[in-house]
Amino acid sequence: IRSTMIVDKDFKLAEVDPRVYGSFIEHLGRAVYGGIYEPGHPTADEQGFRGDALQAIRALNVPIIRYPGGNFVSGYNWEDGVGPKAERKRSLEIAWWTTETNQVGTNEFADWARLVGSEVMMAVNLGTRGIDAARNLVEYCNHPSGSYYSDMRIAHGYKTPHGFKTWCLGNEMDGPWQIGAKTAVEYGRLANETAKAMRWVDPTIELVACGSSGRGMSTFAEWEATVLDLSYDNVDYLSLHAYYNNNDGDTPNFLAQSLDLDQFIDSVAATCDYIKAKKKSKKKIFLSLDEWNVWKSQGTSRAEQHWQIAPPEFEDVYTLEDALVVGCCLISLLKHADRVKMACIAQLINVIAPIMTENGGPLWLQTTYYPYMHASVYGRGTVLHPLITSPKYDSKSFTDVPYLEAVSVYNEELSEVTVFAVNRHLTEGLELSVDLRSFGATTVLQHTVLEHEDIYAANTRQNPGTVLPHDRGNASAEGGRVSALLPKASWNVIRLR
Ligand code: AHR
Repeated sequence: IRSTMIVDKDFKLAEVDPRVYGSFIEHLGRAVYGGIYEPGHPTADEQGFRGDALQAIRALNVPIIRYPGGNFVSGYNWEDGVGPKAERKRSLEIAWWTTETNQVGTNEFADWARLVGSEVMMAVNLGTRGIDAARNLVEYCNHPSGSYYSDMRIAHGYKTPHGFKTWCLGNEMDGPWQIGAKTAVEYGRLANETAKAMRWVDPTIELVACGSSGRGMSTFAEWEATVLDLSYDNVDYLSLHAYYNNNDGDTPNFLAQSLDLDQFIDSVAATCDYIKAKKKSKKKIFLSLDEWNVWKSQGTSRAEQHWQIAPPEFEDVYTLEDALVVGCCLISLLKHADRVKMACIAQLINVIAPIMTENGGPLWLQTTYYPYMHASVYGRGTVLHPLITSPKYDSKSFTDVPYLEAVSVYNEELSEVTVFAVNRHLTEGLELSVDLRSFGATTVLQHTVLEHEDIYAANTRQNPGTVLPHDRGNASAEGGRVSALLPKASWNVIRLR
């Protein structure tokens, strides 16, 4: 089977906002304790941060990391996580029914984020708390000095303000599972007033309002419209959350899930623009897909025994097919680079994550690590909207699913074009011909492939090297045309100059 792509310098869609390669760390399971922080681990530094995790995360070049939740944030008192560690209280954490030791809090996370070279996307608690705690937290984190909370930060050993720029106004406030869930009107009003107060403390911050916690929510779209109607002038982004799984064992349908993401993004953008039209506003709301991933164990567990400290939770093992879906979702994000400015793969370590660790033991990389790393490292620059032809198939939930899912990014500085491509065909290779008409003669720098005979193959603690990318892809160039055979069920990165 054959497919074609036309890539032209003039088909500019948008600059990629690097923050679309963001991730997320919540106080949930072993993400914080046992993941990024494990004093006494052989690789731990003097602050207790695992060195092996620092290294694996640095290699991803993650520009921004959302923290501290997630559902966790809706019951979190940020004051419990600052000041001398010995004096911090143990809290009953009722989002996940665990005991939170508070040994990692805002300041430690800021230190850790600096070590991995990421910005922090901070979330405030709009479940059990509200305007007051939120504006105090902005003052604590961002105000230089001379006020109660900024001086408290200085007394805690942090003279320089953290300068967190991006703030989430709560988390999934439409979900009945959320501590302090709200109606759209309740939340819209609260988000608006909280945003005002936070910005009056620090006018430089950017604010993200909660959209629906999923496209399948019965209030979806109406929630977005109502919330924005009540907060339009005071927020900058609206959030989307999307998780996918193949729990019914239908791989062709699973591989097509990025079409759901395409439609989800398009409909949230349309809803934002409806409110823009209604308000006759010049302002455009951008999108933050601040939780997305494959999540197979969703809804299966709250630690069986309550009030454990950092019990393992949602430690999904990712297969090649999961990595292909992650790759397709990354391509979907890039195809919407004009509207989606931030996105966080949820989560980063141990909890539905590309990186896994064993307490006291080694670290290994899941299949999903690789498409995420390739996109983050090579997908910087301008998205060139590709004209694609591909044979198609129908699946249970979708019609006209192209076997080829692809996008191209032009890095003008390096004079490089990178094509990211997934072949969704389960049994046949896909011939791809790329017409790079405006670039002139082209050379192939690298054709990296993630593939395996068994689409259910995964990397595990015992066999961490089962599914690894290789550079033996057969892409070749002749003049301004590139040809490649994309192996069946594969993720491909073709770098051209
Ligand atoms: O990422 C795991 C959980 O998924 C988050 O805590 C919540 O926001 C979402 O439902």
